[in-house]
Parts: sequence; C-alpha cells; structure tokens
Amino acid sequence: MKLVFLGPPGAGKGTMAGKLALEKDLVHISTGDIFRAAIRNETELGKKVKGILASGDLVPDELTIALVQERLEQKDTANGYILDGFPRTITQADALSEFANLNGVINFAISDTEVVRRLSGRRVAPASGRIYHIEFDPPKTAGKDDETGEELIIRDDDKEDAIKHRLEVYRSQTQPLIDYYRSRDQLHDLNASPAPDAVYTALLQLLDSL
Ligand code: AP5
Ligand code: ZN
Repeated sequence: MKLVFLGPPGAGKGTMAGKLALEKDLVHISTGDIFRAAIRNETELGKKVKGILASGDLVPDELTIALVQERLEQKDTANGYILDGFPRTITQADALSEFANLNGVINFAISDTEVVRRLSGRRVAPASGRIYHIEFDPPKTAGKDDETGEELIIRDDDKEDAIKHRLEVYRSQTQPLIDYYRSRDQLHDLNASPAPDAVYTALLQLLDSL
C-alpha cells in the first residue's frame, strides 16, 4: 500500500505512521525526520537545511523532490510506504505523481488550538524517532525513551514563534493539496482530534475501505 499522510503540523501524522508502518510492514518515510537526521549528523544536507527547519519554512522543492525520489527507489519500499510530510506543495505533488502510484491520501483534520496543545507538549527521542506527549502520551520514565532510555528533547521548531509560522506556511503552501487530491478522487478525510487509540482505529477502518 502506498499512502500519503497530509495535515497540519502536530496533527499526529508521525505518531500514526509509526504505528501503522510497524503493523502493516510499510516503510515510514518522513521528510522531516530525514532532514533532522541530516542536521544531527552534520552532513552537507544538514548544514543547508538547519536554519530552514528551525524557522518553520519549507526546504526548496527541487532538493526535497530529489531526496524522496531517491528514497522511493530503494528496495525496502517494495511492500509499500507511508509518505509523512511529503508532498507539501503543488510542485511536489505534481512530481510525485510522475514516480508513484498512490492508493490514497489521508487528510488529518484538526483545529489550530489542538495543534498548539500537541506541539507545546511534544517530546521526541532523536535517535529512535519515537514521539511522546507530556500529557497525552507520556514516556514510562519522565524525559527518557521507553526502549533505549535516550534523553527526550524538544524539537527546535516547537517554539511558539516557529509553531505560528509553520501553521501559516501550512495554510498557504500545503492546504491547497486538499482540493488538489480531492479533485482527483484520492483524498480521504480523517478526524484527527480524538485520542490516539481512537484515531488509529478510525484510520484502520478507513484503509480497509480503500
Ligand atoms: P515535519 O517533521 O514533517 O513537521 P510537521 O509537518 O510540521 O509535522 P509534525 O512532525 O510537527 O507533526 P505530526 O503531524 O507528525 O504530529 P506528531 O505525530 O509528532 O517537518 C518539519 C520541517 O521539515 C518543516 O517545517 C520543513 O522545514 C521541513 N520539511 C519537511 N517535509 C518537507 C517537504 N515535503 N517540503 C519542504 N520542507 C519540508 O504528534 C504531535 C504531538 O501530538 C506529539 O506530542 C504526539 O504525542 C501528540 N499526539 C499525536 N496524536 C495524538 C492524539 N490523537 N491525541 C493527543 N495527542 C496526540
Ligand atoms: Zn511529524
């Protein structure tokens, strides 16, 4: 199965993609995670995108498209994948349609108030990529990853100003993809506001109907 998870920052795309990928043996491809890993490893790519991610702007299309295309060509994607956070512009969506045949695009719908609540309490394990929330999905030991024990951190772009800017960028650049995919009969709406287990159950039901 080849899926795109579309939605504003903090909608729960990464959380749901992580669970679904494990259960259905799909590859979880998060462009945000790829960029953050490059920043952590201080690669050339990382140096280029560090400031962009911290501010909440988008990485240029050309660079992002080339990176995803290359990733999708790897053998581990044979059983299918979840694209989390890509495409984010019409240009990216047009490019993707050239090299992928999607089964569906899931639109994670959620209010701005809930987004801010989720992002301001998010903690992440940088190496494993596991995502927590201090209130809604806390780790077993405060500040530590459940499996590796690594120290949890706050993402650079989860500061108030960057959250606000990311929401603006989402509205102007990414939200138009909702109509783009709806007009192609590829869009499936998911109410992303309930608790994690309820959202996941609804997601599985939706996928059964594809
Ligand atoms: P990216 O990493 O994709 O960030 P994003 O889209 O802003 O989304 P988030 O990761 O913030 O949210 P999410 O929906 O994954 O929510 P999560 O599951 O973590 O991109 C980062 C940056 O990289 C961009 O700003 C840009 O610079 C660059 N970039 C990436 N892709 C790009 C592209 N295609 N083109 C150009 N630039 C690109 O959940 C959030 C919190 O809520 C967590 O704490 C979680 O525990 C909690 N939570 C989850 N579900 C629930 C629930 N149901 N109930 C309560 N809490 C929940
Ligand atoms: Zn994410």
